[in-house]
Amino acid sequence: MILSVLAVIISYLLGSISFSVLMAKGIKGIDIRHHGSGNAGATNTLRVLGKGPGILVLILDILKGVIAVLLGRWLGGEHEWVPALCGLASIIGHNWPVYFRFRGGKGIATTVGVMACLAILPVLCAGVVLIIVVVITRYVSLGSLLLVLLTPIFMLIFGPNGADFWPNFWASVLICVFAFWRHRSNIVKIIQGRENKLGSKGGI
Ligand code: G3P
Repeated sequence: MILSVLAVIISYLLGSISFSVLMAKGIKGIDIRHHGSGNAGATNTLRVLGKGPGILVLILDILKGVIAVLLGRWLGGEHEWVPALCGLASIIGHNWPVYFRFRGGKGIATTVGVMACLAILPVLCAGVVLIIVVVITRYVSLGSLLLVLLTPIFMLIFGPNGADFWPNFWASVLICVFAFWRHRSNIVKIIQGRENKLGSKGGI
């Protein structure tokens, strides 16, 4: 039990490492949360710093989720809910990072890492939808919202496939709730037609 709690705490601390904030500070000496969309994530890093840093942040943020789930599997032993809790903790850390005054990102890249470990096929299918939607609309936020919404739905479609299915399913539902909460302003902007498009330099 103690090891499981430790795994969840470490996952939160790991998720709290905001690579976009660190990268923007290191490369340009700026706080990314005051530039572009103001979000501390890969999309805004791409917008503000360019392709290379954007892709690097994307990979590192995905890795945070992967490592958290693997840590949960390692330290959680027989408890099938620990990997899902660790994944959730890493996303909570990304969104509300303890090292950066709890002002982080929207958790999508870290979600991809977490769900790739918990439910690879459903998140792959949802990922295909994300790519199609982003290519057609150029709204990364819309693609992201569809990804988190469709992942639990695809999980149900593919059906329970192990003792950890329900913990993983409920984690993906909570992840979806977090993501919609963090994308509140994006949703309003999409409705109003003011949302930043991929490739354009949108401001806060
Ligand atoms: O993953 C974040 C993305 O969905 C939206 O980012 O910077 O356009 O608000 P941004």
